[in-house]
Amino acid sequence: MEIIRNPQELQNLSLLLRSEGKTIALVPTMGFFHEGHLQLMSEARKQADVLIVSLFVNPTQFGENEDLDNYPNDIERDSKLAEERGVDILFIPSKGSMYYPTHSTWVEVPELAKNLCGQSRPVHFRGVATIVTKLFMTALPHIAVFGEKDWQQLALIKRMVRDLNIPVNIQGHPIVREESGLALSSRNVYLTEEEKKVAPMLQQGLQEMKKAVAKGEADSAKLKKSLTDFYAANIPGSQVDYIEIVHPENISILEKIEGPALCAVAVQVGKARLIDNLQINV
Ligand code: PAF
Repeated sequence: MEIIRNPQELQNLSLLLRSEGKTIALVPTMGFFHEGHLQLMSEARKQADVLIVSLFVNPTQFGENEDLDNYPNDIERDSKLAEERGVDILFIPSKGSMYYPTHSTWVEVPELAKNLCGQSRPVHFRGVATIVTKLFMTALPHIAVFGEKDWQQLALIKRMVRDLNIPVNIQGHPIVREESGLALSSRNVYLTEEEKKVAPMLQQGLQEMKKAVAKGEADSAKLKKSLTDFYAANIPGSQVDYIEIVHPENISILEKIEGPALCAVAVQVGKARLIDNLQINV
């Protein structure tokens, strides 16, 4: 596995690989790998000649009081894990090489950024869309794989490549969970042992909602109220950021579940802001 830090060097190499007829897959990450990241790599590995993984904690997608400064990292461990999963190139750019001090170009998809995480993290998706575009322009991949835990991010990136005619095939990969049902996340390291015991209730509550929908309940307000009560009873001290039922593709709020739907939640459990989601199609 080769480690590349210079964006220009990666772009030149990708241009060369493409000219040789090689296909390239990219898995964009912010590092501190867990099995969720590793499964994205394994999936991408199957689909291209060359697998590039980017590791960059993108400052522009963090708000002022968010965890940018404390975001977990362990590049040595990540490099070892990436190599074991068959990664060919690990791209670890510096902040300065990705953003000029006078950086002033942004990519925005307001329609898909206005609900869910976009409400409480107003600059987040502008940062994500911009860095993902820059990574696409640098690594020049044919395909890119993203996790479905960040469902809104995935939907927004799909819309972005469609709208901007970016020739990258975007693929989603199902959420990887611990046996307890807790979705894997780099931020799970913030959880205490006690919090880790109750955090799986996040998904269990969503499963309860799905059962209620299967029994005929279609009113989003009632379903959201039941889930709020479930979290209050089962995750002591937690604070709900949002519980929302949306259309899975355009992330618009659904008052009633009549077709494809996704319930997405963000809940603060101690120091960790956890997100999860479940498709609850009728
Ligand atoms: O999902 C992530 O880890 C990040 O949002 C991404 C896509 C790597 C962009 O920084």
